[in-house]
Amino acid sequence: MELNKINYKLSDFIRDLTNVVETTNDDSEQVSQVEHHLSKLMRTKSWLPTEKLYAGNNSYGRHSLYRDPKDRFEVLALIWEPGQSTPLHDHDGTWGVEGVVSGRMRILNYLQSDSYSNQTIKLCYSGTMTLNEQSTGELLPPADCHILKPEGDETVVTVHVYGKQLKKFRIFEHTDQEDIFITHEKPVGYTTETCLEGLWN
Ligand SMILES: [Fe+2]
Repeated sequence: MELNKINYKLSDFIRDLTNVVETTNDDSEQVSQVEHHLSKLMRTKSWLPTEKLYAGNNSYGRHSLYRDPKDRFEVLALIWEPGQSTPLHDHDGTWGVEGVVSGRMRILNYLQSDSYSNQTIKLCYSGTMTLNEQSTGELLPPADCHILKPEGDETVVTVHVYGKQLKKFRIFEHTDQEDIFITHEKPVGYTTETCLEGLWN
């Protein structure tokens, strides 16, 4: 039993996530179960393909590890060099689970409050947390707006699971009114695409 835990690989993780989305439709239940499996995956790092371990020149690396053929979830590895933070953003209405494989990540959380129009929204700051190595966090709308910032001088590696392929998200820019933000949509792509070879050993 213990040996199986140590040898828990990306292929085991994806098998377990597929089982989760096939056995429950409840978002909070899916998030809870995915977080449990992600914490098992993060006990080791050897499953992460070395060709995915680089950031972009101007932005963090956003590497696809797996996309469910029925678009019920996707798995990404994000690689962050110091200073490569995100803007304040949401996740296109889907849930998420995030874990830190190496390094430390600071997360500034915001809660969606009122929408005044498609472009103007009220967000309330709800606190900052630091995720240490092997720690995980959850995202469930409307509590899914945040800024991610790597801490320290080292490259930070994080794994993210979303409840669908995340093709776009909203960016929030602060106005001169307290808690009022202007939004615009931003498409997102991958630094490297899903590469199944080598993931299943
Ligand atoms: Fe995010």
